[in-house]
Amino acid sequence: MSSPTFDPIQVLADRFRSAIARAYPEAGDSDPLITASRQTNLGDFQSNAAMPLAKKLGVKPRDAAAAILKHLDLADLAEPLSEASIAGPGFINIRLRADTLAELVAAFDTPDLGIDKPARPQTIVVDLMGVNLAKQMHVGHIRSPFIGDAIARTLERLGHTVIRQNHVGDWGLNIAMTVMRIMDEVAAGTRSLDSLTLDDLDTAYRLAQASCQRDLAGLQACRTYGLGPKAEAECQAQVDGATEAFTRARQVLVQLQGHEPRALAVWQRIADVTMAECLAVCKRLHINVTAEHSAGESTYAAELAPMVEDLLKRGIAEESDGALVVRLDDPRYGAIKEPCLIRKSDGGFLYATTDVCAVRRRVQKIGAERIIYAIDARQNLHLRQVWGAARRAGYARHPVTGEDAMLEHAAFGAILGDDGRPFKTRTGDPVKLSDLIEQAVTAAAAIVREKSPDLSPAEHATIAETVAVAALKHADLCQERVKDYVFSFGRMISFEGNTGPYMLMAVARIKNIFRKAANEIDPDLPWPSSPLDLREPQEKQLALALLRYPGAVRAVGQSLEPHRLSQYLFELAGAFSSFYDACPVLKSEGGTRLSRLRLCSLTERVLTDGLSVLGIPTLERM
Ligand code: ARG
Repeated sequence: MSSPTFDPIQVLADRFRSAIARAYPEAGDSDPLITASRQTNLGDFQSNAAMPLAKKLGVKPRDAAAAILKHLDLADLAEPLSEASIAGPGFINIRLRADTLAELVAAFDTPDLGIDKPARPQTIVVDLMGVNLAKQMHVGHIRSPFIGDAIARTLERLGHTVIRQNHVGDWGLNIAMTVMRIMDEVAAGTRSLDSLTLDDLDTAYRLAQASCQRDLAGLQACRTYGLGPKAEAECQAQVDGATEAFTRARQVLVQLQGHEPRALAVWQRIADVTMAECLAVCKRLHINVTAEHSAGESTYAAELAPMVEDLLKRGIAEESDGALVVRLDDPRYGAIKEPCLIRKSDGGFLYATTDVCAVRRRVQKIGAERIIYAIDARQNLHLRQVWGAARRAGYARHPVTGEDAMLEHAAFGAILGDDGRPFKTRTGDPVKLSDLIEQAVTAAAAIVREKSPDLSPAEHATIAETVAVAALKHADLCQERVKDYVFSFGRMISFEGNTGPYMLMAVARIKNIFRKAANEIDPDLPWPSSPLDLREPQEKQLALALLRYPGAVRAVGQSLEPHRLSQYLFELAGAFSSFYDACPVLKSEGGTRLSRLRLCSLTERVLTDGLSVLGIPTLERM
């Protein structure tokens, strides 16, 4: 990656590195440890290099700092350094010159906003969404696509090739049970396939599960407590019925595997109904997951038996109590004591079998050098087992680079209700996702009407929709992803604090300045390229904040933690707000006005770009 010349930390680090090398040739490779200053009254940046250096060389830290200073030439970049620049145990404080800062901002002010393309873009798979057929989507389903899509967008913004994979749970015995149930209903004339909804399917799914559930404990209790022949017969009938249903469901699965047309048609209908709703929700929530990203478990079905054969033949899988497992105790495969189960003793394959197969396809066929799973934290062991097995089998080895693909879990916590328990409706059911979105829109509409009474009802509706989507997404993405968080409409829809509506307002406010400017000032004024005059402390702080943008995006690309960008954007909005309070823009004149307009425009571009990287839509006006 070419070193970006606008990054003050980089520029200072280079200077410090050579000063350290001159002061202490024996420690020439020391890290200059440049960070943004926490106390802006002392400087903009500081170097913490003297302390570890002194320890290593056995000198006093302040002496080391003084020696570095002696060899440091920052005259063209920073305000003069002196004894007073050394603080505490040996920090060196640096304040950039206003003209240097202006130059750095001008270098940053490109269409790419300082994010240059990587020398070698990677192919990266992001596993996100992963809904299950015939199950209604509820609040628990939003974290994977919110987080996964934000990560995917970040990596795309950084210039990589991203392939989204929606690992739909669309295969296996549970689905076969639902198919069986719907086939029975159709045969009984109580169901028409054409009018099937996701709610119908959700009910059918539950009833099908229940019908296959054998109450063996009940039967046992009848016998243990001698409840008599009548009770025992009733329990026996239940068990027989469930056994029969279970056996039929397995037959349906065999039919599906053999592509028997009647069963397959019902399955297809179930898939269509589920996916139509899933993709509609994604569209509404500005989640970039479309039909082309679907790669359901069913698409791996035919590959599983040959893959397991391959594992057996190569001695990677072994038998254990009739089942097949891949052992992972070796540190190379994760030193996991629980082996990865890839075939049950009844011959059936598992969730893990498909996931091992998915690693193989993603690395061998798609060419992924990195696979990121945006999945619930509770599936961590599952993933580590799958990765261990895939590595052991050589499926994770990239065909071109010859190296194992990076396999990462962007794990997330649960969404909780006020009571600290998983978020549910008052009746204890999970909250349906479409209802949740409607509630957010209603809450947003009330606030928008109150804040902007003079807009038309049509404008209110569009604004409320965007505010609601921004509020929902932002509330999720501003949290540390591994942690659980409490869902609160009140908080997320508020215009105060680090919320979606606050961020949208920050953008709309700047756009408003330009609308006014268009009326008041000559549209041909050259503010987009006018020299920056950063005299006021708030102007400098805003400029420094702007320059941190590429680093914030890169941090998400590395840590896979979208909240780092969210937090940065919130700080930028805060720096803008302080600037705007202290520095009149339209009321100022001449070069100052042009310079300030340019700062406003740059801030708006960074905010809009950053929010779009998170997948949060913005508004022209509110
Ligand atoms: N369908 C799964 C579930 O509901 C999520 C799929 C996640 N992706 C994966 N490759 N396992 O838990």
